[in-house]
Amino acid sequence: MPKGFFLTFEGLDGSGKSTQSRLLVGWLEASGEHVRVTRQPGGTRIGDRIRSLLLDSKTESPAPMAELGLMFADRAQALAEIILPALNAGSIVVCDRFTDSTEAYQGGGRQLGSEIVLRLHETMCGGLMPDLTVLLLPDFAASLVRARRRNERMATDGTDEGRFEREGQDFYRRVFDKYREIAAREPVRVVVIDGDGSLEEVHRRIVSVVIECLRAFRAE
Ligand code: TMP
Repeated sequence: MPKGFFLTFEGLDGSGKSTQSRLLVGWLEASGEHVRVTRQPGGTRIGDRIRSLLLDSKTESPAPMAELGLMFADRAQALAEIILPALNAGSIVVCDRFTDSTEAYQGGGRQLGSEIVLRLHETMCGGLMPDLTVLLLPDFAASLVRARRRNERMATDGTDEGRFEREGQDFYRRVFDKYREIAAREPVRVVVIDGDGSLEEVHRRIVSVVIECLRAFRAE
């Protein structure tokens, strides 16, 4: 069993999770914790190449199963190269998205269903689950507006990672509903933060959840 603590952030595009993840990492490091930060897809050299293939809006119509396979190829590489070594060394690993994203986006959004995602997770990731998942689920409409804004910004600043953000409202509704289903299924691991408060308020709520969870983890 790895000694470290595995924490993931999840949420729709535009949920504010990357900002909150950065704030939490700053807080953990200031508290003297050793933290390894990564994200999915990406975070390794191979993963970064998979990321650009997956997110570039010029990537035309990958088959949903191909998209699913690439997400897990990226994850297997990140586990081998980053996540497992850091956990074995006793670090806190903070990962922006993990298998819940695949269940929500490919299982829900692309309608492949949860079962195949969970089966692949078992086979390719040895079933490793986060010790804590912070799921930011602000109001659905607000998330969509923020995702679209981010997409427009990327179109003007030259970063082209907008393939998912171009999906329609029905796709995002299915992703949102699947996230809620995961949270209802795993209420201990997955803590839902509605994210409608200010940046600072949401940060404080996340910190208090993390303190409590780390304390229980270390007392085991
Ligand atoms: P982000 O890293 O900026 O959050 O964007 C990653 C995008 O990739 C986001 O739209 C969600 C999508 N994604 C999936 O569809 N499946 C996955 O398994 C992961 C990790 C991400």
